Amino acid sequence: MHATARAHTNIALIKYWGKKDDQLKLPCNSSLSMTLDAFYTETKLTILDADQPNRFYLNGQEQSLKASQRVVNYLRVLQERFNLSGNFLIESTNHVPTSAGLASSASAFAALAASFNAAYELNVDLTELSRIARLGSGSATRSVYGGFVEWQAGDSDENSIALPLAEHPKMDLTLLAVEIETAKKSISSTKGMNLVVETSPYYATWVEQAELNIGQMKMAIAANDFSAVGHLAQQNALAMHALNLTADPGFTYFQPETIRAMQLVAELNQNGVECYFTMDAGPNVKILTQLKNVEEIIQRFKNDLPHVKIVKATFGPGIEILDK
Ligand code: DP6
Repeated sequence: MHATARAHTNIALIKYWGKKDDQLKLPCNSSLSMTLDAFYTETKLTILDADQPNRFYLNGQEQSLKASQRVVNYLRVLQERFNLSGNFLIESTNHVPTSAGLASSASAFAALAASFNAAYELNVDLTELSRIARLGSGSATRSVYGGFVEWQAGDSDENSIALPLAEHPKMDLTLLAVEIETAKKSISSTKGMNLVVETSPYYATWVEQAELNIGQMKMAIAANDFSAVGHLAQQNALAMHALNLTADPGFTYFQPETIRAMQLVAELNQNGVECYFTMDAGPNVKILTQLKNVEEIIQRFKNDLPHVKIVKATFGPGIEILDK
């Protein structure tokens, strides 16, 4: 029994930042993302007899027991849920260049969930697939669908699910992933968000504001209003990163060049080149813009920050089963 699935990664325009349940990965606030065409993970999952050892290959390299643990533990959780048995051969290829500075956990766990579903012939629907992807990593919930996707926070395993808002949006929206640094991040997203939930006096305000942002973002998408989408995404990203400074101890993912990139975006706007930024749990900056401005932005970044790498992306599709 085996199956291969492809899942694309996504960038949150309204961020998930904090859980109310660690096991089920129930978020404190809803989030909204754009699935990206340029970055994806392909995973072949083969179900082995229980007397064969689990093996995990990432980009052709066999991974240590320790490195395989999160993946194997996740598949065990799914087996328990569906009352299944067997061991695993997991072969994953990440087409998420480290240079892009985008997290691969969203595409990794969405591809695992989909290959598990197909290999065991469970035939769960996409809503259930988003639930089981969530058990691997919160952001994977949204990678089940293409285009614009909402993850409704909910308050139980049942109702914390992703919904497609527009699988093939008409919006002229390009993302430029600007690599500031490829080194592994100092504080994982799991740790960072837990720390703010536990210690920031402003956490309740974040949740309130993020829920407001979700409504505003949905209106901006429905109106095909690029400027409103970009502005809201930037404000929400700034709020998440400001919140991190208010934790105890306070922390930041920014590096000096993150700030420089933010200033460049402001300067570009002053010169009539409309663009916005967003950042996740790391120093890299993702710029949101329209096709007509892409070349000018890349040129400007190359002049000011000559060593950074820039990767272009736009809307990508949801889960695909490649082979069964
Ligand atoms: C800043 O999904 O990586 O990218 O659920 O603990 O695995 P876990 O966290 P993860 O967090 C992503 C945080 C973010 C915002 C987002 O993608 O919504």
